[in-house]
Amino acid sequence: MKKYKVGVIGAGAIAQACHIPGYVSAKNCELTAVADPEKKCLAMLKEKGWNFAAVYRDYKEMLSKEKLDLVSICTPNKFHAEMAIACLNAGADVLLEKPIAVNMKEAEAIRTAVKATGRRLMVGFSHRFNDLNNAAKAALTAGRIGNPYMIRIRFAHMGPFPGWAKTDWFYNPKMSGGGALMDMAVHAFDIAQWFIGPVTAVSGKTATLRKDIKVDDNVVALMEFGDKCMGYVECGWTSPSGFCGIEIMGDNGVIYSDYIKNQAIMAHGQIAPSGKTEIQEVILKDKTDKSPWTKEMEYFIAHLGSSRK
Ligand SMILES: NC(=O)c1ccc[n+]([C@@H]2O[C@H](COP(=O)([O-])OP(=O)(O)OC[C@H]3O[C@@H](n4cnc5c(N)ncnc54)[C@H](O)[C@@H]3O)[C@@H](O)[C@H]2O)c1
Repeated sequence: MKKYKVGVIGAGAIAQACHIPGYVSAKNCELTAVADPEKKCLAMLKEKGWNFAAVYRDYKEMLSKEKLDLVSICTPNKFHAEMAIACLNAGADVLLEKPIAVNMKEAEAIRTAVKATGRRLMVGFSHRFNDLNNAAKAALTAGRIGNPYMIRIRFAHMGPFPGWAKTDWFYNPKMSGGGALMDMAVHAFDIAQWFIGPVTAVSGKTATLRKDIKVDDNVVALMEFGDKCMGYVECGWTSPSGFCGIEIMGDNGVIYSDYIKNQAIMAHGQIAPSGKTEIQEVILKDKTDKSPWTKEMEYFIAHLGSSRK
């Protein structure tokens, strides 16, 4: 069996929670090289028993010395474009963490490099691999709530640092390019378009409401999908609890992908102007079978073979 030579740039939280376990589980991947300037993050990999054949502090040196089939880019947002383009030019396929880049010019440059090199690049939009969202999309596509006219998305928690990220870059505007907007709302805009279709107009407001940081900790945005559907996003880093997930309103029903209850639910019925409710709910999916990150990695690895020229 061909074994893909895997490189990982950035050995922090998402590399440890998603990318590296995905490659370890795959029989056709070998941990060939990792690059990270932070010794403490590299040490965490060893503690977990993940031994890469070669370890680098500088990703450029890694790319010049290794012939890698694919590379995961798990670094702060500022580096995404430069690293993705370097990996593509080195002949590797790329799994690039979100957001694709910190501005449109960089994102366009990545697309140009994909076309020029003939390699493939996937952005880690993991919500697309959530079983709840897949059940919700199947019901929506089958017309079970009629045509959607509104989508609401709320992704919110208490913030990525401390608690999640292994380094403190998320709150540094030069490293992140923005706060909750770049971290959380990019997922929301992606999944909104995955459910409904292209956004034709968008407006919004970011604000730093609670945290003593130099990037936004909350964002609200309004989306239009042509003239028959609208949507809104509310994402943030200051939410101890509350709804987290997606709600899609259609002409004759509603679908909730409720991340807290871990259920996808479809409801039909009426809330009469009198306040009397007659609602029937069905569970479309009760509990995810696997984590979205596991499924994302399985998908990426399963599609590698077809990407070679
Ligand atoms: N898809 C998701 O659900 C999800 C979740 C969290 C984070 N992310 C994304 O993953 C990326 C990393 O976030 P994280 O939470 O793992 O942060 P983190 O701080 O835990 O990890 C970042 C790692 O990158 C390393 N790094 C920094 N500069 C580097 C360089 N020049 N070369 C090589 N390595 C370098 C750091 O030392 C650290 O180990 C971000 O783009 C973030 O948006 C995605």
